[in-house]
Amino acid sequence: MNLILMGLPGAGKGTQAEKINEQYNIPHISTGDMFRLAIKEGTDLGKEAKAFMDQGALVPDEVTVGIVKERLGKADCANGFLLDGFPRTIAQAEALEAILTELNQTIDHVIHVDVPEENLVERLTGRRVCPTCGTTYHVMYNPPAKEGICDKDGSALIQRDDDKPDTVKKRLAVNIEQTKPLLDFYQGKGYLTTVNGDQEIDDVFRDIQATLEA
Ligand code: AP5
Ligand code: MG
Ligand code: ZN
Repeated sequence: MNLILMGLPGAGKGTQAEKINEQYNIPHISTGDMFRLAIKEGTDLGKEAKAFMDQGALVPDEVTVGIVKERLGKADCANGFLLDGFPRTIAQAEALEAILTELNQTIDHVIHVDVPEENLVERLTGRRVCPTCGTTYHVMYNPPAKEGICDKDGSALIQRDDDKPDTVKKRLAVNIEQTKPLLDFYQGKGYLTTVNGDQEIDDVFRDIQATLEA
């Protein structure tokens, strides 16, 4: 199963990707996570990406397409993959088509997790993540058993650099502008399903599953 998860910052792409990955065992490919790992490791890619991410801007298409192309070529993607946060521009969507044609693959579903814009600032500023295992929490909507501590490995949770209020506003503006043409692109190809992301996490997942198993 080859999937794309779309949605504005904070819509719940990463949260749902964890659940899809557990259920269907397909690799979760998040360009945002790949950039954050590169930043942590201090690579050239990380240095380049950080400048854009700190501004809430998109990393240039050539860079982003390059890392996705390399990742999709790995053996574990042969039986399915889940793209989270890619493509984000029409140029990326077209590049993905070319990559998949080369790999003799197609897209099965594009799932758009739809959440009203006014809810997203609260979701992003209340988000906490585990620096060790990557699990995502929310101080109100999805708190860990013990405040500030990861349920899975006991690490102290942190806030993402780009979840500060000023960067959040810029990220939302940039992504709102890019999203509509992409939705139209995938609607036109017949791949798109929009799921109501403004429900409990498990209910969103139930609706995604209904689409995947229809
Ligand atoms: P990326 O890491 O992809 O960030 P994003 O798109 O801004 O999305 P988020 O990860 O912030 O949100 P999410 O939808 O995953 O929500 P989550 O599940 O965490 O990208 C970061 C940056 O990298 C970009 O700004 C850009 O610079 C660069 N980049 C990445 N991809 C790129 C590309 N293709 N091209 C160019 N540049 C790129 O949930 C959010 C919070 O809400 C959490 O606290 C969660 O617990 C909570 N929550 C989740 N679901 C629910 C629910 N149903 N109800 C209540 N709360 C919920
Ligand atoms: Mg995410
Ligand atoms: Zn953890």
